[in-house]
Amino acid sequence: MAQLRLSEVHLGVARLEARFADRIKVDPRLTRQLVSFQANKERPIFRWFRYKEGFSAQLVEYLLDKLDLQEGCLLDPFAGIGTTLFTASQRGIASVGIELLPVGCAAIEAQRLARSQKGADLLESLIRWRSERPWLSATRKRSYPHLRITQGAFPDSTQAALEKYLSALEAEPLPAQRILHFAAMCVLEEVSYTRKDGQYLRWDYRSGRRLGSKPLDKGRLPSFEEAISNKLAQIIDDLRPSGRLFEEPPLRGDIQLLCGSALDLLPTLKSASFDGVITSPPYANRYDYTRTYALELAILGVDEAAIRHLRQQDDFLHCGEPRKDRAQ
Ligand SMILES: C[S@@+](CC[C@H](N)C(=O)[O-])C[C@H]1O[C@@H](n2cnc3c(N)ncnc32)[C@H](O)[C@@H]1O
Repeated sequence: MAQLRLSEVHLGVARLEARFADRIKVDPRLTRQLVSFQANKERPIFRWFRYKEGFSAQLVEYLLDKLDLQEGCLLDPFAGIGTTLFTASQRGIASVGIELLPVGCAAIEAQRLARSQKGADLLESLIRWRSERPWLSATRKRSYPHLRITQGAFPDSTQAALEKYLSALEAEPLPAQRILHFAAMCVLEEVSYTRKDGQYLRWDYRSGRRLGSKPLDKGRLPSFEEAISNKLAQIIDDLRPSGRLFEEPPLRGDIQLLCGSALDLLPTLKSASFDGVITSPPYANRYDYTRTYALELAILGVDEAAIRHLRQQDDFLHCGEPRKDRAQ
């Protein structure tokens, strides 16, 4: 069944290539690194959260140069973590982004906050958190409900440390609170028994789950303390004066983020109001982002009902009718 679908996709791609053969050009500058998230690994802020569905800021820069677009308004109807939006803004170009997945929306809001914070308050809070680790002495925990597919994703000690961290950050001023929360979201996969693999989470043999014939061995799992400490160090390194972020142009163009489905939101946008579109739509490989990003969705408070709703919207985008192959 899966093979049949794959061959249908290949056939579809071949038909498209044949139809647009006179318009498709091979550009050797568009390397795999540039068209994927890989090139972002060295970029301040973009490197905090690994969104492997993203493309690189360098690709957007390349396209803006090629299109010679220096002003106006760009649209990205599948904004992901906002690569198009932030890169355009650094060039003084306004943008509108639409994103369905709350994980992408949260990443965009956290980045926007981090990129636009003036003054030393945020940085001071982050430095204090890294050195004093206030969550270690927290007496309360902020637990959050897991989703069915994220139950038992962390060792007990990691789950407990995470809940103390979430409780302790509530005492911080809002900008620091948001960035600290985002930092925790960025390390969830690393400290969990899971690994993102295509559209699934693979589970480590220590998770206690019933596993297939080739269970995953993630090797040594870092503790929450170790992972969050490294993440905060990375964030501090980007935000400190003369850090990586200060080598980049500041945000100048307005960024408008619309959280929801492009199918609903695109028709509400004024026609002829954009000077360009830079986007990468969801792949036609039927990936289910709500599975891949389940750990991050759970910490954002997205519950089973909201997940079902997201899947329905995403289904519509993929094939116009609900998928029949999805296990509930
Ligand atoms: C290939 S990714 C784009 C990544 C983006 N270029 C970046 O650099 O982060 C496609 C995005 O489309 C989003 N998406 C899927 N269905 C959508 C819909 N109906 N409306 C809006 N966004 C949707 C997914 O959540 C995903 O973030």
